[in-house]
Amino acid sequence: MKAVTLAHHEDVSGWRAAARALALGGVPADQVTWQVEGEGGDLFGDESLPDAQPDARLSVPKPFLSLASSVICHSDPERFALLYSMLLHLQDHRHALEDRADPLMKRLEVMRKAVGRDIHKMRAFVRFREVEAAEDVPERFVAWFEPEHHVVRTNAPFFQRRFASMAWSILTPELCAHWDGEALAFTEGATKADAPDGDPVEETWKTYYASIFNPARVKVKAMTAEMPKKYWKNMPETALVPELISSARAREIEMIERSRANLDMPEVPATMPAQPKSQPELAPPIDSWESLAAEAQRRHGDDRSNSGTQLVFGEGPRDAALMLIGEQPGDQEDRAGRPFVGPAGQLLDEALGEAGIDRSDTYLTNAVKRFKYEQRGKRRIHSKPNAGDIEHYRWWLEAERKLVDPAVTVALGATAARAMIGKVVTISKTRGEAIELADGSEGWVTVHPSYLLRLPDPVKAAEERARFIEELAMIRGRVEALAA
Ligand code: URA
Repeated sequence: MKAVTLAHHEDVSGWRAAARALALGGVPADQVTWQVEGEGGDLFGDESLPDAQPDARLSVPKPFLSLASSVICHSDPERFALLYSMLLHLQDHRHALEDRADPLMKRLEVMRKAVGRDIHKMRAFVRFREVEAAEDVPERFVAWFEPEHHVVRTNAPFFQRRFASMAWSILTPELCAHWDGEALAFTEGATKADAPDGDPVEETWKTYYASIFNPARVKVKAMTAEMPKKYWKNMPETALVPELISSARAREIEMIERSRANLDMPEVPATMPAQPKSQPELAPPIDSWESLAAEAQRRHGDDRSNSGTQLVFGEGPRDAALMLIGEQPGDQEDRAGRPFVGPAGQLLDEALGEAGIDRSDTYLTNAVKRFKYEQRGKRRIHSKPNAGDIEHYRWWLEAERKLVDPAVTVALGATAARAMIGKVVTISKTRGEAIELADGSEGWVTVHPSYLLRLPDPVKAAEERARFIEELAMIRGRVEALAA
């Protein structure tokens, strides 16, 4: 019997090194026991790793490594053994990763999804509270969070990037992450009592939240689906929710009556309470679809030169897990006032369908919101948007991304990629794998459907279409993993 002790719960490199040596040494899965340092008792078994058997070879497909780095974060103690079984299984069943009926793969996929959800929830629901700092130390922010899986190490770099200029700690029962502006550090778990409870930042946040709370919009089911009750208690603004909901009906009636009686709207403070310091991401300037539409009209209502008849807004569920960004509306989109309804839209619909994505589940939008064209006789010929056009509408795309908050955003073509990433990228170099966007969410770049329509060689066109669908199918897998 072999015994492996990993350095910590998310020790994917330790697991990989051990699994590789064990597999090359011909050790079957039922002859290995796995544990994490400091947990459980002494393992019964030989801790040395075997020598590779003569002629032993190991094939490790790239997607398996990505699966392993997610599954390793699951709280199931069997995860290390299951992954090792899968590694051995793959040596004789090369396509097991794509086989949806494979029982082991099914189980690992469920685990991957659960981890993806937990990572996403931590990113969405961690709330920092300001704590008193020592004299010569700048302000410090502390958050309490209770993840279901071992996702703190994996998620810490996300918070490091997002709150790079703050000194912060995220306390969890199992592990705490700390950032001092220069280095990440991890310490043992804490208790909720170690986290601050109620401070000026929190009070400000609560006041702000109460002031924007609109009782007519309360959808308790949607709120609880998005934000499980388990997390409510740790978020300052949600401490208000039960009370606000219980008084919602009364407030709604009161608001209706006031407006019927033609009285003034409820008093709004002359100035909004200040946003919590260092949390600008939580309070975007455009915080509702109404304010986005108003701002679009204010900024772009008069943009007319060289461009179409109307602004074309994005469409789709406002909480879609997948957002697709195109270049700009075409002639037909300009007439219809909707994105992707012309020939490129038809190809996109077909490709989405073949990749198992329902268009009605996606939020579809464009980098540039108005059709730019050159008039030739009666025809309006598409003009490619330039860098200035992209910048001109970039605030809008960013506002849409903040409001929808998709798990995955896909840029179709170079214009969309530039708008999504903020710099010029080469599609051929960027396509085919996930990239991390500035807000920490996942982005993908692929070709624009019009590119496929323009390819003159039918063989090349068929190949490129198949590749586009393959990429969309991969993206569907990522959306399911992150947002399910
Ligand atoms: N091409 C795009 O990029 N967007 C559309 O909406 C239509 C065609």
